[in-house]
Amino acid sequence: MNYLIILIEGGVAGSVVANRLTENSTINVLLLEAGPFHKDVIETTIPFYFWLGIPDTYNWNYTTIEQENANNRTISYPRGHILGGSSAINGMVYDRGTTDDYDKIANITGDSGWNWENMLKYFEKLETFGPPADRHDTMGQYNPSFHGLSGPLNVSLPGFSQNIDAFVLQTLNNRTYPYTEDPNTGTELGFGWQVSTIHKGTRTTAATAYLADKYLERPNLDIFYNAFVTRVIASNGSTIDTVEFHPVTDNEAPTLSIRASREIVMSAGSVNTPHILLNSGIGDNATLMSLNITTVHHLPEVGKNMSDTTVMYVSWEVNSTETFDILLNNNTARAEAFAEWNATRTGRMANGVINLSGLLRMNDSDPEVQNIRQQFGDPDAGITAADFEMLFINGLGSPSNGSYFTMLFGVLSPLSRGSVTLNASNPAGPPLVDPNYLASKYDTLVMRQALLTGFNFLSTEPWTSYLGTPVNGLAEVIAALGTDNFTAMDDLIRNGIQNGAHLVSTSAMSPYGADWGVVDPDLHVKGLQGLRIIDASVLPFVPGGATQLPTYGLAERASDVIKSSW
Ligand SMILES: Cc1cc2nc3c(=O)[nH]c(=O)nc-3n(C[C@H](O)[C@H](O)[C@H](O)COP(=O)(O)OP(=O)(O)OC[C@H]3O[C@@H](n4cnc5c(N)ncnc54)[C@H](O)[C@@H]3O)c2cc1C
Ligand SMILES: *[C@@H]1O[C@H](CO)[C@@H](O)[C@H](O)[C@H]1NC(C)=O
Ligand SMILES: *[C@@H]1O[C@H](CO)[C@@H](O)[C@H](O)[C@H]1NC(C)=O
Ligand SMILES: *[C@@H]1O[C@H](CO)[C@@H](O)[C@H](O)[C@H]1NC(C)=O
Ligand SMILES: *[C@@H]1O[C@H](CO)[C@@H](O)[C@H](O)[C@H]1NC(C)=O
Ligand SMILES: *[C@@H]1O[C@H](CO)[C@@H](O)[C@H](O)[C@H]1NC(C)=O
Ligand SMILES: *[C@@H]1O[C@H](CO)[C@@H](O)[C@H](O)[C@H]1NC(C)=O
Ligand SMILES: *[C@@H]1O[C@H](CO)[C@@H](O)[C@H](O)[C@H]1NC(C)=O
Ligand SMILES: *[C@@H]1O[C@H](CO)[C@@H](O)[C@H](O)[C@H]1NC(C)=O
Ligand SMILES: *[C@@H]1O[C@H](CO)[C@@H](O)[C@H](O)[C@H]1NC(C)=O
Ligand SMILES: *[C@@H]1O[C@H](CO)[C@@H](O)[C@H](O)[C@H]1NC(C)=O
Ligand SMILES: *[C@@H]1O[C@H](CO)[C@@H](O)[C@H](O)[C@H]1NC(C)=O
Ligand SMILES: *[C@@H]1O[C@H](CO)[C@@H](O)[C@H](O)[C@H]1NC(C)=O
Repeated sequence: MNYLIILIEGGVAGSVVANRLTENSTINVLLLEAGPFHKDVIETTIPFYFWLGIPDTYNWNYTTIEQENANNRTISYPRGHILGGSSAINGMVYDRGTTDDYDKIANITGDSGWNWENMLKYFEKLETFGPPADRHDTMGQYNPSFHGLSGPLNVSLPGFSQNIDAFVLQTLNNRTYPYTEDPNTGTELGFGWQVSTIHKGTRTTAATAYLADKYLERPNLDIFYNAFVTRVIASNGSTIDTVEFHPVTDNEAPTLSIRASREIVMSAGSVNTPHILLNSGIGDNATLMSLNITTVHHLPEVGKNMSDTTVMYVSWEVNSTETFDILLNNNTARAEAFAEWNATRTGRMANGVINLSGLLRMNDSDPEVQNIRQQFGDPDAGITAADFEMLFINGLGSPSNGSYFTMLFGVLSPLSRGSVTLNASNPAGPPLVDPNYLASKYDTLVMRQALLTGFNFLSTEPWTSYLGTPVNGLAEVIAALGTDNFTAMDDLIRNGIQNGAHLVSTSAMSPYGADWGVVDPDLHVKGLQGLRIIDASVLPFVPGGATQLPTYGLAERASDVIKSSW
């Protein structure tokens, strides 16, 4: 087969591009995916396996290098290794981002096609907003006029009602916290119901959606899975036209090469895209020379500028049998929940990770916040964009035999930037992943504001009766706040930061002709022919609270950009 396009990877972006390009029957596409086929994998089908644990078989098993501002901890850094990519193992949280986020991307790249007005069309096109698993009335829980009804990606509101949902809503009513009917309309601020990539109680992945059977049947789409791509090559002059790969099942097997007659699209994600580029000799010349890799194209920012949301979990013991911990601790309860899911696709196992979440800005009338703004400015895209998030989790703590309430806090526009680099002792092996968490003091200061806001939220009924002992040193932190002593809180933050999983910007977009960035606004690698990058790595920052929807939207528009370029 003569492939016009070879796509590297079948994760979120790769699945979208494979689908959209093969709508045109004259375009032959080969998709190469390192992971296995996705069908019949129960752990990536039942939403609750996010908490039960998805097997490492479907994971790249990365770990960060020591994070020097987080007490030198190394932090597990999962990435999906299966058709569907990280959407098969992610938290299913659906956040598009805001008007200001996309207008800022348009501004940074000088391409108005990335602005909110244009991207909203793609967000509506890509989805089918369906009923929740429990079929409850969703009136007032989202704004239908901003959502789609005929796209491949099936999404829904929470499908299992939790005791803490009422507590959150009661707190909004009783205090001055704002409710938002729909955080995906261009402004995201407030507390609202969380949409998830779930359909009829099962996880929607890029593969279940964009590589569903009716698309796999297309004669112009071929997929090689278990195919590990090692390099892209310019076989003739400066046009990248060849992909080198080998079966993952046999590392010693000789590599195979295959040529694309039109172009190659790399969509291996924010860790693996720079890894493949660097191994292909596309990156900083001096660094590549030090590794004895021949520089094909000097492009200094490959793998640089990495940004991730900065998150931590804080838990309290609770005296309740209604948390999902029972499914983690009690085999009988778990078997019952599974049987319910298996019979009707309902119950706790059918539900997403969270039902309600808050996306908030810091309080600008607080003198401490004024100090922060004065020192660091405002890195958010604009006033529609949140500084931090608070997600309400109905369980999860340690020791693992208890019952808990957990709040997940996230700093959404951190100033720390990290990198993906090659490991000098084994460049072809796993790369060095360095999100460089908390390198900027700003990130700690915003996390403090997030925690203070969270504690304040929880400081009245019904929470005061519901919450028991705080877990892991949290009690000391709260006690010290009375004296404005943040020593214990900063310790908790350094010890608590986990991977945010929303890695972006390692192959960032910049304007045509710019001497910085990695790709042009049409996603061509700067200074090379034949190679585009379409995945989360091209986003210059995390839009809104998460990255999967931005990546789906990006890949939808990128597919049109490719089609219209011929
Ligand atoms: C644990 C976890 C939780 C998350 N939770 C959320 C969430 O709740 N909400 C949200 O919005 N986002 C979440 N994310 C992030 C979101 O899933 C990613 O931003 C999104 O999947 C990025 O899409 P992508 O196409 O860039 O990469 P991916 O979806 O990761 O796809 C990359 C694909 O490339 C393949 N690949 C990589 N290297 C090679 C190679 N050398 N050869 C062949 N194939 C290769 C991979 O196997 C994979 O299939 C989470 C991510 C993780 C890991
Ligand atoms: C399909 O792609 C070919 C180029 O490969 C192009 O000439 C043709 O116009 C496209 N068809 C449609 C319907 O877009
Ligand atoms: C991750 O670890 C699991 C379990 O050890 C293994 O099966 C899997 O192949 C690993 N993933 C990769 C990409 O090597
Ligand atoms: C982290 O490691 C560095 C280098 O090894 C060391 O200088 C520093 O003291 C360590 N920090 C902590 C908090 O242990
Ligand atoms: C980007 O924003 C700045 C400041 O608001 C403005 O002056 C500039 O014209 C914008 N650039 C583009 C390309 O929109
Ligand atoms: C998505 O939802 C629509 C409407 O309910 C349905 O026809 C379609 O089969 C669903 N897609 C998948 C992949 O489940
Ligand atoms: C890389 O640097 C070396 C030494 O400075 C130089 O000779 C070579 O031309 C450079 N290669 C590229 C591709 O820039
Ligand atoms: C690079 O090659 C030189 C000479 O062959 C060798 O001495 C050196 O160890 C190599 N460096 C690396 C990082 O492989
Ligand atoms: C937990 O709640 C039950 C019933 O409400 C009560 O009987 C029990 O004493 C409580 N246990 C603790 C430790 O508070
Ligand atoms: C485990 O769950 C079952 C079924 O819900 C319940 O009957 C039993 O009491 C639970 N056991 C414990 C120790 O909580
Ligand atoms: C799940 O349901 C299917 C029928 O839909 C049945 O064949 C299977 O045995 C059930 N699995 C379990 C573990 O109950
Ligand atoms: C409302 O908040 C006040 C204190 O701020 C508290 O005393 C009261 O119990 C709360 N009422 C409800 C219904 O939550
Ligand atoms: C703040 O609290 C820490 C312990 O958490 C203590 O060591 C330190 O002395 C306190 N600082 C002040 C100014 O009280």
